[in-house]
Amino acid sequence: MNFRGRVFLAPLTKGGNLPFRRLCLAHGCDVTMGEMAYAYQVVKRSKSELALLRKHPEETCFGAQIAASRPADGIAAGLAAVERGAAFVDLNCGCPIHDVVKRGMGATLLQRPTQLGKLVAELVKGIPAPVSVKIRLGWTDSDRNASEVAKVVEEAGAAALTVHGRTREQRYSRAADWDAIAQIAAERSIPVIGNGDILTWYEAHERWQKSGVASIMVGRGALIKPWLFREIATRQAFEPTASERLAIYHDFAQRLKAHFRDDEKGRERAMRFLPWHFEFFCRYRPLSAPQWVAAASQHPLIQTRMPEEEGLSVLERLLRDPRPELHQELAGLLWAATDAPAAEAAALLLAERMPPVVGELGEVAVGHG
Ligand SMILES: Cc1cc2nc3c(=O)[nH]c(=O)nc-3n(C[C@H](O)[C@H](O)[C@H](O)COP(=O)(O)O)c2cc1C
Repeated sequence: MNFRGRVFLAPLTKGGNLPFRRLCLAHGCDVTMGEMAYAYQVVKRSKSELALLRKHPEETCFGAQIAASRPADGIAAGLAAVERGAAFVDLNCGCPIHDVVKRGMGATLLQRPTQLGKLVAELVKGIPAPVSVKIRLGWTDSDRNASEVAKVVEEAGAAALTVHGRTREQRYSRAADWDAIAQIAAERSIPVIGNGDILTWYEAHERWQKSGVASIMVGRGALIKPWLFREIATRQAFEPTASERLAIYHDFAQRLKAHFRDDEKGRERAMRFLPWHFEFFCRYRPLSAPQWVAAASQHPLIQTRMPEEEGLSVLERLLRDPRPELHQELAGLLWAATDAPAAEAAALLLAERMPPVVGELGEVAVGHG
């Protein structure tokens, strides 16, 4: 497993489901990562947790992510992941949500570097695959200890370290601090993977180069535009029309169908995901480099509310619509449509039935890693 020179799809609970990861692969993604699995649940052989460790044969470089506080649980979960084909196992040390931190996992581990060091050393010893660690900058702004944590993690034998450039307390309220990421990359000799706020190919290359990180990781950027990977690889914007985007979303619906099966139960399961994805898809706006390069250095594009334009096509307005009830309908028609043109015809009928209101987008910063 080479952790250098690569673009990682971030571990994304709910978003990083297997069909979505396949969609990203189809659009040039290099390294995929699974949704965080609780190690103690894997130990109990929980079916839903074991499913999070599963990869598709197309995923040739897949990292399973685990949340653990006890070495024995982490090792058992790591072994289960490696048995299922994981190329590496990542330990979550950034998850801020209450349920995770109260059990001594996720971001809590940042507050206990000595315990973290022991945990990582045990995982490295017990898991027959590279072990990586994903951290935030610290618990709070006044308690940023990522440099210390990174040192501990390297000395414990981790193969790589991802740094999400925010603290636990910040969640998504502030821009990722790429200077702090750069500092850690300069201090360490293991590969450091930089993560935070990358939405365009030009931001990706600028941050990659300036910060000196070995690799980069994209999360919400991929959820908004799964074709971001190809844009980064080719250093070129791909600004799909509404029609082309709908075809991509239809492709995703068909991948969900292949995964969950084409029956009522499969549909029900897919509908837990597809409408949810539209909360991200509807945020897509074309951002050509000349227009945005300067603005992006001032404020993260991913958190920018863009003014709505006049004169958009019916389909374009439909795809930008933030209403959850509309996302349900769109998901339903994408599931049912036999091909992309049929999906488009159905979407146009939907637009007539449900005239889109284009207004404020919902909360821009969502997620919890
Ligand atoms: C919906 C969602 C789910 C997430 N789930 C996880 C997770 O399971 N494990 C993890 O380490 N981070 C998780 N994260 C955090 C991301 O991996 C990433 O660190 C964060 O979103 C910053 O990257 P971005 O600015 O490119 O989105 C999640 C983020 C989002 C938006």
